[in-house]
Amino acid sequence: MDDRFNTAAGWALFAGIVALGGTILTGEYFKHEKVEQGGFEVADASPESAGGGATAAKPVDFSAGDPAKGAEIFKKCASCHTITPGGAAGVGPNLYGVMGKKHGHVAGFSYSPGMMAMAGVWDWEAMDKWLTSPKKYLNGTKMSFAGLSNPEDRASVIRYINEQGSNLPVPPPPAAEAAAAPADSAAPAENAAAPAADATKK
Ligand code: HEC
Repeated sequence: MDDRFNTAAGWALFAGIVALGGTILTGEYFKHEKVEQGGFEVADASPESAGGGATAAKPVDFSAGDPAKGAEIFKKCASCHTITPGGAAGVGPNLYGVMGKKHGHVAGFSYSPGMMAMAGVWDWEAMDKWLTSPKKYLNGTKMSFAGLSNPEDRASVIRYINEQGSNLPVPPPPAAEAAAAPADSAAPAENAAAPAADATKK
């Protein structure tokens, strides 16, 4: 009885060990599978996310901005800003010649600490981001202005600001650069299409 029990217990134990071993092996196997799969997923995801990023960062066409229209849009800013040479500070600083200058360009104006600490200058891209959403550009800014959601409005008002004492060169349209590549590659495609066109004529 005892012997048989021991044998049965032994078998049960053995079976348990085999099962456990099997689980460990299977676990190892799947672990490897997962790692491999993960690798593929990452490889698949990168071009996708890169494409998405490129779409999101679609640059504004400043050359399409209209400074005259920008002067009209600037009326939204004029409640807080002057833009004449030596104009008085209001709620916001005077903006004459601000393009190309460092963040917080008027000495003596009490900017937010964040604005004072900000590196870099007001170039086209920075000004575009700032006017899209001042709060997103600088968390804690003193400028309580929601932003201009229309890219054409931003291009126009930045063109207007640029003409008031800065006159930085206007960046070329981003579309021209993007269109240049397909135009170039279209040339050989045209040549390749020529014999095909002949073939259809026959
Ligand atoms: C309600 C008042 C208000 C309005 C409206 C406003 N601003 Fe401002 N602006 C400010 C204040 C205040 C600051 C200082 C921000 C800081 O120190 O964080 C500022 C800062 C700026 C700066 C940075 C200046 C520098 O010397 O670095 C620019 C550029 C600017 N504003 C442009 C604009 C434009 C363009 C508009 C209109 C589309 C506008 N602002 C509308 C109050 C305003």
